[in-house]
Amino acid sequence: MNICIVGTGYVGLVTAACFAEMGNHVTCVDINAEVVSNLRQGQVHIYEPGLEEMVTRGTAEGRLQFTTELSEGLQDALFVFNCVGTPPREDGSCDLGFVHQVAREVGQLMDGYKIVVNKSTVPVGTADTVRQLIQEALDQRGVDHEFDVVSNPEFLKEGGAVNDFMKPDRVVVGTDNVRTAELLKALYGPFARSRDKMMVMSVRSAEMTKYAANCMLATKISFINEVANICEEVGADVREVRMGIGADHRIGYQFIYPGVGYGGSCFPKDVKALINTAKESAYTPQLLEAVDEVNDRQKQVLARKILSYFDPQGGVAGKTLALWGLAFKANTDDMREASSLEVIRELTEQGMRIRAFDPVAGEKAKELLADNDLVEVVDDQYAVLDDAQALAVVTEWNQFRNPDFEGIKAKLTAPVLFDGRNLYPPELLGQSGFAYFCIGRQSAS
Ligand code: UDX
Repeated sequence: MNICIVGTGYVGLVTAACFAEMGNHVTCVDINAEVVSNLRQGQVHIYEPGLEEMVTRGTAEGRLQFTTELSEGLQDALFVFNCVGTPPREDGSCDLGFVHQVAREVGQLMDGYKIVVNKSTVPVGTADTVRQLIQEALDQRGVDHEFDVVSNPEFLKEGGAVNDFMKPDRVVVGTDNVRTAELLKALYGPFARSRDKMMVMSVRSAEMTKYAANCMLATKISFINEVANICEEVGADVREVRMGIGADHRIGYQFIYPGVGYGGSCFPKDVKALINTAKESAYTPQLLEAVDEVNDRQKQVLARKILSYFDPQGGVAGKTLALWGLAFKANTDDMREASSLEVIRELTEQGMRIRAFDPVAGEKAKELLADNDLVEVVDDQYAVLDDAQALAVVTEWNQFRNPDFEGIKAKLTAPVLFDGRNLYPPELLGQSGFAYFCIGRQSAS
């Protein structure tokens, strides 16, 4: 099948590469000429395991093309996937400027039947607006082409996006047009191998499903973070509590790892956007507001622990913290809404120096933190420790899970470890002579 993908961000590029991998002909359109030129040469601007190989293969075998011209992408395409960004506005609502612009241009350029698929995360009702904008553009041209607008949200997590696309838990298609539903089922057939993974529903339900899914996951995280904080107060261990509750199939073990709060490009934005949508409909979403607030507070928990530890020693000003992990989670270079940024902000505001390392996000972090004189991003995991007063672990990269504790001790001025991801057993750290602070468990000191 011929497919046009508009937008070569995480979602667009993964979607394009995976469709091409299955034998479809895919043309990716992006207004950024540099990105397009790099992609043509197989240079992928996104860190996503498995993606670069797929892009290289698709390009070499002629199934994947890149262009800055939407007209070129539309030429033979039956499906037009709208995968452009929907950044958050100041008030938490979604900026749909790019989505609308693509809709207008599709209307201005299309020359035959198209299925326009909204893949970007967009508020309920966006498909209606997209339909209207395409129709207006067609009317202005005085032409009459048939088209359909479908909602087909993505459920890709960064670091596992290729796998999520190739082996989805479900494929949600929002349309009331039976023929369109059949065409999408055919397109996704090779991915959603068992029929019951294809879920056809109304457009609005599909749009809502995306938000409900992410908000449910965010709720689980804020819930366990709240439980962890209470555990600390009452002398319980959240690791044990997690095992105890996760064994109940209705609860499950996943997404109840306490930590430094959720970050990334989806959860913070989507929770705020659904709050906004609800309020626009005069509904007060109390639970979602609490999920958001608990997360804001959780992002400060690690910095608070560090501040209160150093308080009796004259505060953190002039002291140096070694920090492991800058990305918002492991296996990505993405630092959007990363908790590390909050930790760094709070501590440097108090005059603490930070020497940070991340296996992949280092280069991005150097740019992002360039104007903060108190932060130095270093390319060596152990070099950051030299003469630092403590180590803080903020991202759960595998290479941090089993470090050389004796080596850490030898380099720090004192063996002090703040663990925002509960990577280490407190007993072991205590025996090794560390003052160890973690989340939702008793500290060792
Ligand atoms: C998420 C959804 O998982 C995905 O389905 C959706 O399409 C996009 O949003 P992503 O943002 O890539 O994906 O990351 P995810 O792995 O879900 O983690 C989100 C955040 O929650 C990270 O900051 C992570 O560290 C945190 N998290 C996750 C926890 O703190 N505890 C957990 O138990 C799980």
